[in-house]
Amino acid sequence: MSVDIVAINGEFFLPQDAKISVFDRGFLFGDAVYEVTRSYGHVLFQLERHVDRLFRSAQAIDLDLKMTPRQVIEELYRIHKKVGKADRYVRWQVTRGEGEIGMSMHLAKSANWIVYVKDIDTINPEINKTGTAIVTSQRLRNPKQALDPNIKSGNYLNNVLAFKDATQSKATEAVMVDGKGFCTEGTTSNIFRVKNGVLQTPPHKSDILVGITRTLIFEIANKNKMPIEETYFTPQELEDSDEAFLSGSVREITPVSKVNGKTISIGPIVSKLRDLYAIGIKDYCEKAKTDHPWK
Ligand SMILES: Cc1ncc(COP(=O)(O)O)c(C=O)c1O
Repeated sequence: MSVDIVAINGEFFLPQDAKISVFDRGFLFGDAVYEVTRSYGHVLFQLERHVDRLFRSAQAIDLDLKMTPRQVIEELYRIHKKVGKADRYVRWQVTRGEGEIGMSMHLAKSANWIVYVKDIDTINPEINKTGTAIVTSQRLRNPKQALDPNIKSGNYLNNVLAFKDATQSKATEAVMVDGKGFCTEGTTSNIFRVKNGVLQTPPHKSDILVGITRTLIFEIANKNKMPIEETYFTPQELEDSDEAFLSGSVREITPVSKVNGKTISIGPIVSKLRDLYAIGIKDYCEKAKTDHPWK
């Protein structure tokens, strides 16, 4: 197992010894929220934004985290420091806790915090040069009215099933659609395309998680006067893109070389964005050294 350590409610366990109750509502109902970021060296990238999103997710499902954002940041650094290794994947999941089986959220006594630290296995440097193959899946991303994808919850079963479509086609990601047939997002990523020199991604009001990397891409594009817009596009239009890429905190910006078997070139806009994103990481990490006294 590539996991270094698991912390449950602040206590450290080896992966094989990390256990939670079968009465935990995260296990029973997906009644949980989570976040994932990665470290560069010993700096947890964009941690404040991830913690902020965790609190928004928790608030949306009426989950009391019983900690302040500042305490969460300090705790995550404490755990990362304990592992003592650079460049880690860090996932923190908060379930509503254990209780009698039933729909009422009040059956749970108190939240369980589980933090996983492991090595990063999803970035293959070759993929950044050669691009990756993706497919579009007919599976719907959750409509907002059912479960807003902005609530980063423990309910990822439709994503798991969409990912099966990718695996069956020897692709690495599947982009799900909404009820009208427009592209939404990947199972653990946002999707962008380039058409006629303009960066395009589905609107924030569509059935997507507004990814932190997606937001950073908007900031970078605007700062560097790269045309960017939110717009709906179909799987067919995605196939007809000039360039395309996936974004996510761990995968960063991954060029797409094929959509549903159709070749897409890895062009200058994705390459430029990747370079600017790398500068953004460096700047953030430099700044974090002075701005994060708790490190
Ligand atoms: C469904 C989904 N969309 C998008 C993303 C990308 O979000 P971020 O850039 O905040 O990592 C993720 C990340 O896990 C995700 O699970």
